[in-house]
Amino acid sequence: MENKVVEEKEVDMIPLMTPYKMGNFELSHRVVLAPLTRQRSYGNVPQPHAILYYSQRTTKGGLLIGEATVISESGIGYKDVPGIWTKEQVEAWKPIVNAVHAKGGIFFCQIWHVGRVSNKDFQPNGHDPISCTNKQLIAPIRSDGLDVEQYTPPRRLTIDEIPHIVNDFRVAARNAIEAGFDGVEIHGAHGYLIDQFMKDQVNDRSDKYGGSLENRCRFALEIVEAVANEIGSDRVGIRISPFANYNESGDTNPSSLGLYMAKSLNKYDIAYCHVVEPRMKTAWEKFECVESLVPLRKAFKGTFMVAGGYDREDGNRVVVEDRADLVAYGRLFISNPDLPKRFELNAPLNKYNKETFYTSDPVVGYIDYPVLESMTR
Ligand SMILES: Cc1cc2nc3c(=O)[nH]c(=O)nc-3n(C[C@H](O)[C@H](O)[C@H](O)COP(=O)(O)O)c2cc1C
Repeated sequence: MENKVVEEKEVDMIPLMTPYKMGNFELSHRVVLAPLTRQRSYGNVPQPHAILYYSQRTTKGGLLIGEATVISESGIGYKDVPGIWTKEQVEAWKPIVNAVHAKGGIFFCQIWHVGRVSNKDFQPNGHDPISCTNKQLIAPIRSDGLDVEQYTPPRRLTIDEIPHIVNDFRVAARNAIEAGFDGVEIHGAHGYLIDQFMKDQVNDRSDKYGGSLENRCRFALEIVEAVANEIGSDRVGIRISPFANYNESGDTNPSSLGLYMAKSLNKYDIAYCHVVEPRMKTAWEKFECVESLVPLRKAFKGTFMVAGGYDREDGNRVVVEDRADLVAYGRLFISNPDLPKRFELNAPLNKYNKETFYTSDPVVGYIDYPVLESMTR
């Protein structure tokens, strides 16, 4: 068994494991850790168990995107997700980031505001959650299907308040750099605040932040600009999911929306654009679909990352066919801390257990998935 593995390694340099230069970052391969909420940051403060979790998933020259990390108190929508707005949170991130750097990894922090995907209990002083709209989320079931949520009707942000939220993203990015992160990924996907502004099924504003494509994307692009000016454009990525409608965030013309964003982002010369595949119609299943990210890939001049339902074969194919530069893996990376190595060796993969994705245990389903050595020993 071991001999066979070694032989395969010698003959096979798979496309996913080829190096890639992303701006100033020399990546040794293209298998990226996708942002993954794990709800183990008690009281919104990153915990020491995250040191091992992230370091298990680090490779020399590998890119990791941290779990969605809240930019301000009003940005919280789930229990025990990490934040990056207080000194304590910034300090708590430092040993985690250091551990990733000690193994040669490159670590981006995904910065996040949930907008209306929240309820009063998570909000400062029990206020209503904020959004571009005052339309309430109806679905009582969270997009992962696991948890029943009660959503409070949101309060529509006034036009004067919007620059303050943009500023919160800017400060969070500054804090991420202070914590040692190499950059930030702006979370513009999955029906959270930025996506709420972008999608015409949510955004019902009639001011300069609503209506036309240009107006609906203004908030996202103002954040990109503010964050890029603060920390340098080479340290900024953004994730978008124009085709997804998680958290009731559909759009009537997702292809145009995606293309508009891809083209507009070129102005800012950011490190990467990360797009969720159209086939991820729900957070958990792949569907066959006619839409493709190729037009966005062609329109965007920088590094293009894709995510959503990829396995080894599919990831190799997307790289070979030049439909993406990088591929982010979510669920497979949860259950296979050494995923790049397993891909390289074409080794079998551990199965993931959905039941423990969001449980708060600091060990189970978190840092106890076996690496290859311990399986073959
Ligand atoms: C447990 C879990 C948590 C997730 N948390 C986030 C998150 O914090 N931010 C985000 O943008 N996407 C999040 N996602 C979506 C993943 O980043 C990824 O896009 C999705 O799992 C599809 O990729 P996959 O098929 O490789 O798992 C999450 C997915 C899972 C399964």
